[in-house]
Parts: sequence; structure tokens; C-alpha cells
Amino acid sequence: MLETQAWVLYRGERRSDGRPEPGRLMLETFRFREPTEEEVLAEPLYGCWEGNMSHALERVPVDVCRFRREEKVVLGNAGVVRVVRTGSAVTSVQPGDICLVFGNAEPDAQGYMVKALAYDAADTMGVLAKQIRLHARNLIRIPPGSRHSLKQWAAFSLRYITAWSNWRLAYGCWRLQMTEADRPVPFVVGWGGGVSYAQLLLAKLAGCRVAMISSQAQRLRELATVGILPIDRRHFPDLSFEPERYASDLDYKKRYVRSEKSFLALLEEAGQGQDVDIFLDHLGAPVYPATLKALGRQGVIATAGWKHGAELLNTSRSSECISRHQHIHTHYARYSEGVAATAFAENTGWLPAVDQERVYPWEEVPQLVEDYTQGRLSTYFPLFQINPE
Ligand SMILES: NC(=O)c1ccc[n+]([C@@H]2O[C@H](COP(=O)([O-])OP(=O)(O)OC[C@H]3O[C@@H](n4cnc5c(N)ncnc54)[C@H](OP(=O)(O)O)[C@@H]3O)[C@@H](O)[C@H]2O)c1
Repeated sequence: MLETQAWVLYRGERRSDGRPEPGRLMLETFRFREPTEEEVLAEPLYGCWEGNMSHALERVPVDVCRFRREEKVVLGNAGVVRVVRTGSAVTSVQPGDICLVFGNAEPDAQGYMVKALAYDAADTMGVLAKQIRLHARNLIRIPPGSRHSLKQWAAFSLRYITAWSNWRLAYGCWRLQMTEADRPVPFVVGWGGGVSYAQLLLAKLAGCRVAMISSQAQRLRELATVGILPIDRRHFPDLSFEPERYASDLDYKKRYVRSEKSFLALLEEAGQGQDVDIFLDHLGAPVYPATLKALGRQGVIATAGWKHGAELLNTSRSSECISRHQHIHTHYARYSEGVAATAFAENTGWLPAVDQERVYPWEEVPQLVEDYTQGRLSTYFPLFQINPE
């Protein structure tokens, strides 16, 4: 067995009301088994805090420890590591290589992700430890002599690769119905978050007009500087759909309808009269009905996330068919997509500009979690350092 220092999450207790007790990270000595011949021992350098790590702490939709039948887990499926030693069957990386963490831990027969590393895949470790064991398929070598910083690659590893796979399918699907002649400049809009941000930059590179929604002044300013039209969601503060309340609470309904009108009017203005062609929505239930209303004919709604609601609200199949709306659902990416996204990023600079952002030191990871949870961060890519470069 090996020993390392790690921030761990323990299995939660079930409360009497049936709701899960939220978890917190505990710093302790963590024991783990020796790598097999197909695995490596690695030292994480930088990690990026991700939505799934917060979902794991909240234990929504699942308690990952119970799901994995383990007492405790080490989270962290985004970051950059240095390979320390490799198993005898590993040929893709060598000791000393610097690699991205590629979080697809259990692919299906075609390579698409079934279970995520350091989340629902049992017996896997994430970057919240000084040393970790990883399967070779969970590493993508950063191009040697890369023009980009390790902090940028750490921020890239999960949100950007998710964005790559989801955008490829969303845009490809949209173009099957709408040719260049039909619509030379598509209008693409994203709800908040790092995945949407990365996708909108891809959309811009593909020649689309792009807009993104945020409630933070600093983010709105930064979106404008990278050529993304900012849409301020403080102009529609009550756009959060709750079906039961909508049916029973007249005051709530009036406020919701008012916000929805403002939202649709702002999008119409941003689209210069053109409906939304592709809407990137990784949030889910509270914004879903309004998102569908904003979507034009032959529009695509694309998602890889369910931050505020995993269940699909009632959708009118007839109106979705008549509008020829396409619903795209993806989950991270297969290995070849990760490799393609990494090469594209190296060549084009499609990575987030995070070098001036605060990097939380190892001891302050709980503070990062608190700041992210309270919405105090303006970056979409909250970084922490585990070992020196
Ligand atoms: N399946 C996968 O492979 C995969 C991969 C990556 C992420 N995900 C999931 O996708 C989801 C989004 O992740 P992310 O990293 O892109 O985003 P994120 O960093 O978690 O940020 C989400 C953003 O949504 C906005 N927001 C929050 N509540 C809102 C509301 N009620 N109405 C409108 N906007 C709201 C906020 O923006 P403002 O504060 O700027 O308003 C917030 O910054 C998460 O659930 C994550 O776990 C899934």
C-alpha cells in the first residue's frame, strides 16, 4: 500500500427527512493500493474545481461514496499531473511526462464515457491528493514545449473537452438541417458556466454570432473583451421555472412571466431579429421552458450538464417536432476527442486565459469550495495547486 496526503470526502449519513447530509473535505493521510501494470503513479500539479465536485459534496444527485460502495473518496477529475512511474504495460506516457487528466474512467464499447474518474467510477482517485494512481487511459500528454501554461491546461482538461464533444455534435446536427446558404451566420447563445464559455469560443471560430448570459458585472465585461455579446440576467431575475408554484402562486407567476418577456426581448435584440439557432444549456429545469421558447425553427438545444435540475420538464413533443428542434445530450468525451481537442487548443490558443487568476494553495482548498459555492468567483475556472511545477 502507498500513503499520501489528501482531501477526502467521507460517505454521508442519511437524515431522518431522507435528504442527504452535505459533505465536506477532510485533510488526512490516505492509503491506496499500488498501481497495476496498466496504471501510473503521478503527482498532481494543478487542479480545477468542477461542478461535479460540488455535486459530490452536496451528494446530489448521488452520494458518490455510497454509489461506489466505498467509505471515502478522493475527488478531482480536472487538472495536470507529472508522471512519477509507470506500470510495465504502459507505453503512452513515461516518467517525467506532464499530462492532462482525462476523466473518462469507464468507457463503453465505442469509447464514450459511462462513469467518471474520481466521481462515480469505483476505485479511482482524483487530483485532491499529493500522489495518485491513474490508469494510462486517463492521461493525455501535453504537447512537449507547449506554448500554453500548465494552469491553462488544468482549466482546459474537463470543461473544454466536454465543450468540444458537445459542440461538435450540436453544430454538426444543426448544419444537417441548415446549410451555409440557409444561414451563413448562426446565432448561438449560452447560459452561464465554463463549458458554455468554451463552446461559444468554438462557435465564434466557426463564424457564428455568439452571446452569453451572466449575472456578474465582471464576467459581463470580460465576455465583451473576448468578443462574446454579454446578456445581463439581472434584467430577468425571476426566470426560474417551478411548475407547481406556477400553477398555484399568482404573484410568482406574474413575476415569472414578466422576466420571461424581458429575457425574450433581450435575446431578440441580441440576435438582431434572428431567433437563437443553438442554445447551450448546462443548467436544466429552471431555465428550460424559456430556453425552448427562445429557440428558433430547426434550432438545437445542447446539454452536458444538469446543474439545477436533472429531470426534463414536460415537453410538447408535437411542437418540438413541428419546430424541428433537436435535443443534444452528451457526457464528457471519448479519448480520441480529448486528443483532438488538445491538439486544436495547442495550435489555435483555444484555452482560457487564467494566468492572472488567483490559484488557491493546497491548504486553502476548502476556502475555494466556499467561494465557488457562494458565487464569489468571477473566473469560470477556479484553480488550486497541489505540488510545485
Ligand atoms: N457531463 C459532463 O461531462 C459535464 C462536464 C462538465 C460540466 N458538467 C456539468 O455542467 C454544469 C455546468 O457546469 P459549468 O462548469 O459549465 O458551470 P459552472 O462553473 O458550474 O457555472 C454555472 C453558471 O451558471 C449560472 N447560473 C447559476 N444559476 C443560474 C440560474 N438559476 N439561472 C441562470 N444562470 C445560472 C452562473 O453564472 P453567473 O453567475 O455568471 O450568472 C454560474 O456561473 C454542472 O452541473 C457541471 O457539473 C457536466
